[in-house]
Amino acid sequence: MNLNLTDKVIIVTGGAKGIGLGICKVLAAEGAIPVIIGRADADNQIAIKEIEAEGGKALAVVAELTNPEACKSAVEQVITLCGRIDGLINNAGVNDGVGLESGDYEKFVASIHKNLVHYYLMAQYALPELKKTKGAIVNIGSKTADTGQGNTSAYAASNGGRNALTREWAIELLKYGIRVNSVIVAECYTPLYDTWIKTLENPEQKLKEITAKIPFENRMTTAEEIANMTVFLLSDKSSHTTGQLIYVDGGYTHLDRSL
Ligand SMILES: NC(=O)c1ccc[n+]([C@@H]2O[C@H](COP(=O)([O-])OP(=O)(O)OC[C@H]3O[C@@H](n4cnc5c(N)ncnc54)[C@H](O)[C@@H]3O)[C@@H](O)[C@H]2O)c1
Repeated sequence: MNLNLTDKVIIVTGGAKGIGLGICKVLAAEGAIPVIIGRADADNQIAIKEIEAEGGKALAVVAELTNPEACKSAVEQVITLCGRIDGLINNAGVNDGVGLESGDYEKFVASIHKNLVHYYLMAQYALPELKKTKGAIVNIGSKTADTGQGNTSAYAASNGGRNALTREWAIELLKYGIRVNSVIVAECYTPLYDTWIKTLENPEQKLKEITAKIPFENRMTTAEEIANMTVFLLSDKSSHTTGQLIYVDGGYTHLDRSL
């Protein structure tokens, strides 16, 4: 299947590591030009080298996405570099454990900025270009919006917000032919996941328990599997799919727990 992504300019927030890097690699393999928006120049450059070593092309812009001005400037830099934007993948975020008892007002608001506010700002700033190209948006989300996790109020609330914005934007952007969808992740081993699991007691045992409960093949989802769905949703091969939340999770969120 030809996804018609050759030379398309796609912004990927948090594209230097984990799921975002997986998405950039699949985009590049399809001939697109992923533009990584990430906070650390060194990480961005390492990711570009990895993509180039696999025969692809990628660009990067340094931005700390919790800073609204940096979001604006990042989009402006992409337009200066590439002259167009064909798609936006909102992906950067962190499960930062701001709970009811462990958190406070400042931590809660800061976490909403880490996980939700920049999704809105990046879409808003990219919109004039997406209108010209009839580009698409994919928001990466987390099962915690449906299942909760405990001790992570702000992250769960942000993910509820990501899902709601997907439906809301799908409607608001119908008139421009811009499609908006979400890919929901449950358990994918990334640098973020590694950090999170190490906060638990006996992480190796916990990892075994989690993977045993993932119905399909009792294993973690790979970043490439999430990327494949994301890139398909971004492409015009999914031209009549909008406002959808697609769970790429081996059945973890919805299938019978007694499996
Ligand atoms: N890994 C999982 O199992 C899992 C599960 C559910 C949802 N998710 C979601 O997937 C997304 C990506 O997660 P991951 O596991 O790949 O994370 P990761 O930490 O492994 O990679 C994220 C990348 O984004 C960058 N980044 C994060 N916040 C940023 C900011 N404010 N400004 C600039 N750069 C920033 C990080 O530096 C890093 O390079 C997150 O939004 C997360 O909510 C992941």
